[in-house]
Amino acid sequence: MLQLLIPRKPNLKGCHQKKLEKIYECYEVVQAHLLPVVALGQLEIDYDELAAAALRCYCTKVPRNVNMAKLRNGYLFPEISIRELQHLEKYPHAKLISLGIGDTTEPIPENIALSMANYARDLSTAEGYSGYGAEQGNKALRKAIADTFYNHVPVKETEVFVSDGAQCDITRFMLLLGSNATIAVQDPSFPAYIDSSVIIGQAGDFEDEVGKYYDIEYMKCRPENNFFPDLTSTSKTDIIFFCSPHNPTGHAATRNQLEHLVEFARDNGSIIVFDSAYAAYITDDSPRSIFEIPGAREVAIEISSFSKFAGFTGVRLGWTVVPEELLFSNGYPVINDFNRIMCTCFNGASNIAQVGGLASLSPEGFQAVRSLVGYYKENAKILLETFNSLGVQVYGGRNAPYVWAQFPGRKSWDIFTEILEKTHITTVPGSGFGPGGEEYLRISAFGHRESILEASKRLENLFS
Ligand SMILES: Cc1ncc(COP(=O)(O)O)c(C=O)c1O
Repeated sequence: MLQLLIPRKPNLKGCHQKKLEKIYECYEVVQAHLLPVVALGQLEIDYDELAAAALRCYCTKVPRNVNMAKLRNGYLFPEISIRELQHLEKYPHAKLISLGIGDTTEPIPENIALSMANYARDLSTAEGYSGYGAEQGNKALRKAIADTFYNHVPVKETEVFVSDGAQCDITRFMLLLGSNATIAVQDPSFPAYIDSSVIIGQAGDFEDEVGKYYDIEYMKCRPENNFFPDLTSTSKTDIIFFCSPHNPTGHAATRNQLEHLVEFARDNGSIIVFDSAYAAYITDDSPRSIFEIPGAREVAIEISSFSKFAGFTGVRLGWTVVPEELLFSNGYPVINDFNRIMCTCFNGASNIAQVGGLASLSPEGFQAVRSLVGYYKENAKILLETFNSLGVQVYGGRNAPYVWAQFPGRKSWDIFTEILEKTHITTVPGSGFGPGGEEYLRISAFGHRESILEASKRLENLFS
């Protein structure tokens, strides 16, 4: 967003050379401080002001981490939020419908919320107080996760690490690997894999012409290849990030596809980081866990989340499974290093959130969250039917809360802008997920039913 407003460093003609140097030196600081305000339309850019601000800036002598400077634009989702705010500035009376970021909207089932409320209240009593818990997570919750999500595969509760969410585990795992581990990602893909790799210093330089980081292997996943990469032309990497059901395309990998993936990882000695954050949305016979695939325990970890399964996007709770059989090249167990990272960089999930997680896995809680998932799936069905009836080619939506709509020959940011301008609906441009997402939009099915129905009507008016 910021780059959209000022695509490059200001060209301050006639400015004193020394002043100019100072501005350029402080450019990123000034940009970070001033431009969010500019982005909200609250400030006209006054370059003299900008120059003066740069000169007034006090800078420490600490150099910025060069890896942070390599990150492209803002993180995709905050950028979509800024677009929404800008739109509301422009059309203050518009009834904006957000089918963009993919945040859950429906309340957490009462028994689950109450379990957290009661636990929080008891923390104020001598009997109910508890401090730090086990860094790996509450034993009962680890067992409940193993019993609920892995009852059909050999996962031990001691291999389950409870966390504050899948996104944090993705970054912690990259930290564990260090900057020498090479990675492959699906293209398009959820941005956290690439951004974590950039931050850790593994990604190399961004190449504008192709929209990719030089040292990352992008595995194209498009309808032409049934959203599964051509592994015969995929370079060997240490790590393969693989998300299923896939954000953003909504495709759930078939058993056969995952068997190929595991075989590929075994042949190359790679580790698969399997992101199953949307596994609860699978209703056909696609695997819900990579550990359903024979041989996966020696080559995969699985990262998952309570966010989209139980509405815990704000509560924050997730988990990672690291099998004991997964070893580094020198035979050292990955689980030992993961344990060390969790102890050093995390210190355990909130005890309140963990009580909520446990309640969501109780028979009553589980039934309630299943119906929440069912609600969002029905939303996805409505959106799919809408696009189908309009002749727009759509994918996903059946095993995932995302619909992936194709607009041949169009730039995805252009379609995003057109839909926002004409219908007051935010979506996410596919290219925000990588060059393979160009021509597509991701439409989220997280929303109140009346908003989804209203959005469908507006889309019908636009496209029919
Ligand atoms: C594929 C994928 N993985 C991980 C996450 C992050 O999940 P959490 O909220 O547990 O950090 C998301 C969130 O949207 C996601 O789409």
